Amino acid sequence: MLVLGIETTCDETAAAVVHRADDGTGEIRSNVVRSQLEQHKPYGGVVPEIAARAHVEMIDHVIRAAMEEADLRFPDLDGVAAAAGPGLIGGVIVGLTTAKAIALVERKPLIAVNHLEAHALTARLTDRLAFPYLLLLMSGGHTQLVSVEDVGVYHKIGGTVDDAIGEAFDKTAKMLGLPYPGGPEVEEAARHGDPARFALPRPMLGRPEPDFSLSGLKTAVRMEAERISPLSDQDVADLCASFQAAIVDVVLDRLETALDMLQETASRPTAIVAAGGVAANQRLRDALDAAATLAGSKLIVPPAELCTDNGAMIAWAGAERLARGMVDGLDARARARWPLVTEAA
Ligand code: KG4
Ligand code: ZN
Repeated sequence: MLVLGIETTCDETAAAVVHRADDGTGEIRSNVVRSQLEQHKPYGGVVPEIAARAHVEMIDHVIRAAMEEADLRFPDLDGVAAAAGPGLIGGVIVGLTTAKAIALVERKPLIAVNHLEAHALTARLTDRLAFPYLLLLMSGGHTQLVSVEDVGVYHKIGGTVDDAIGEAFDKTAKMLGLPYPGGPEVEEAARHGDPARFALPRPMLGRPEPDFSLSGLKTAVRMEAERISPLSDQDVADLCASFQAAIVDVVLDRLETALDMLQETASRPTAIVAAGGVAANQRLRDALDAAATLAGSKLIVPPAELCTDNGAMIAWAGAERLARGMVDGLDARARARWPLVTEAA
């Protein structure tokens, strides 16, 4: 089964072709990503209007490149998938409408994929993981602990009541005068810093529900920075290291709480999957790896290019759905908001 996947929910224009065999194994035939980072950088964040316009300009080229790299033509495809949300609505419309046009003209099934579902299912493409598993999704827009039970069956275990983890990294970086995106900058600066110099709060630590709250931590960094201003390079490094240490403590505690919750249930995870741009953080990965081992589980982190936004994850989620006959009509809606939960249904 060959599926084209299109991703335009944020600031990457991406398309990919993935093959799914009948036994459930997947293979990436092409994976083309064009980042708009340089266009957004001057503004210190993603500007929705600029993103939508850039997607319109890039999408045809990116799809053509993905088809050429896979050495395929549209008639060879078994389905066309696009991320239909959640995300910046202008961009989502660009990708979904393009997928609909191809599906209509080529008479192929359309699969309208939830972007979060695509992150959730990537580990099955990379590691052939069996259900259920616990997903720790940490990106610029999302922070969620999700029990992935089956294709289309996701139970939210925890989320953030305010900022996403990536957002906290980005805002901290901005406060300290580091460029956007802040995550890699904070990690780099923290390498030379003292994680014990500033006693920053660990919000939600020990709470019975595995939820996150990060705005207080961000505020604490700002107050410390103002207190010792002007900041030397060493001050910035120490603040970054202290912030990162607090994040690691919070994530570990929340993860352990989630694992405890699931321990005696049918959702007891076969593995822990970390995904989203923040999963690129080596300090965090090492800590998660140790915690997973300690809990008698294992940590799986898809390779960086499949953790951040990409077309292969959309194509793969599309293939997983298509294999189960879960296809969508050409009236599928683009959605700015689209939670990945099923218990309310
Ligand atoms: O998944 P992603 O590429 O895009 C979405 O937000 O959907 O995640 C980007 C986020 C940004 O907030 C970025 O600062 C953060 O991931 N990030 C990191 C690192 N690399 C990227 N955060 C911490 N440490 C990193 N090494
Ligand atoms: Zn994403």
